[in-house]
Amino acid sequence: MRVGVLTGGGDCPGLNAVIRGLVRKGVQEYAYEFVGYRDGWRGPLEGDLIPLDIPAVRGILPRGGTILGSSRTNPLGQPDGIRRIKDNLAKDEIDALVTIGGEDTLGVAAKLYEEYGIKCVGVPKTIDNDLSATDYTFGFDTAVGIATEAIDRLHTTAESHMRVLVVEVMGRHAGWIALHSGLAGGANVILIPEQRFDVEQVCAWVSSRFRASYAPIVVVAEGAMPQDGDAVLKDGSLDSFGHVRLSGVGEWLAREIERRTGKEARTTVLGHVQRGGTPSAFDRWLATRFGLHAVDAVRDGDFGMMVALRGTDIVRVPIAEATARLKTVDPALYEEAGVFFG
Ligand code: F6P
Repeated sequence: MRVGVLTGGGDCPGLNAVIRGLVRKGVQEYAYEFVGYRDGWRGPLEGDLIPLDIPAVRGILPRGGTILGSSRTNPLGQPDGIRRIKDNLAKDEIDALVTIGGEDTLGVAAKLYEEYGIKCVGVPKTIDNDLSATDYTFGFDTAVGIATEAIDRLHTTAESHMRVLVVEVMGRHAGWIALHSGLAGGANVILIPEQRFDVEQVCAWVSSRFRASYAPIVVVAEGAMPQDGDAVLKDGSLDSFGHVRLSGVGEWLAREIERRTGKEARTTVLGHVQRGGTPSAFDRWLATRFGLHAVDAVRDGDFGMMVALRGTDIVRVPIAEATARLKTVDPALYEEAGVFFG
């Protein structure tokens, strides 16, 4: 059995741990051969691959990023994309393809399996934790840890100057990182994309914090929008993925808070630092187990399936089920956090 592996979409701490788990078990227990396709779907589209053997995966467990490279290339939008992938997989004598990715990468895998019979197994990854059918994706715990540490540090500088510190975290469509890091870091306001916020209410919370002699921390997900956000935040243009471009909700909010409360405010945009560096112990554990179970799915011929975490068990679910809709923050969970606002 010869297995191809690719990592697609935004990178995420733990990708290398999946690759190591897959290769170690596949070579040692099943005598499989592995190749790594470079840069997500670009690899099989162009036949760009590297051999993946035990020496190739030595020492990569704690390394962030991906040794295979990643991209957001989507073969479905390319002329002849499917035929080129099929031809290259045949030329490279690939029997199965393990695709490690988020909604977009796995959406392609689901389609390639269902419509073109390409034997794909999926492994879910995203720091955003917004993939359905799995309790957690690896990368999320690391991102929350980084954001929480940043919030802890911002508390002390906010207190010294009695300023408002607005922290913008990743999460275009789902507020998981904002909610978890905001709770863990003791934020006074948490704003998520799932619920439009009232800027007057945010300013009231901020002012009540000052009245109690505290300097407030506001955690805002990059995709959070004020009630009239379409008018004030969207600049109308589309990015290369067709998403409406936002013009920096964190910076905008700090200016509004200053204008409406008279208090000084600063913004920290955490950005890609949340995706970089070594994975947390939890993410290494989860990613390694995903790798071990993905190679078992290949052995069982269980194609079109994705490994997923349910409680402490790793189960298999149809890839299509995971990509059908985003897993967003439940309103009740968000409401629960509201007791700390203000
Ligand atoms: O999906 C992961 C993610 O990090 C999002 O949180 C963020 O909005 C996006 O990717 C950023 O993408 P890029 O790396 O292309 O700037």
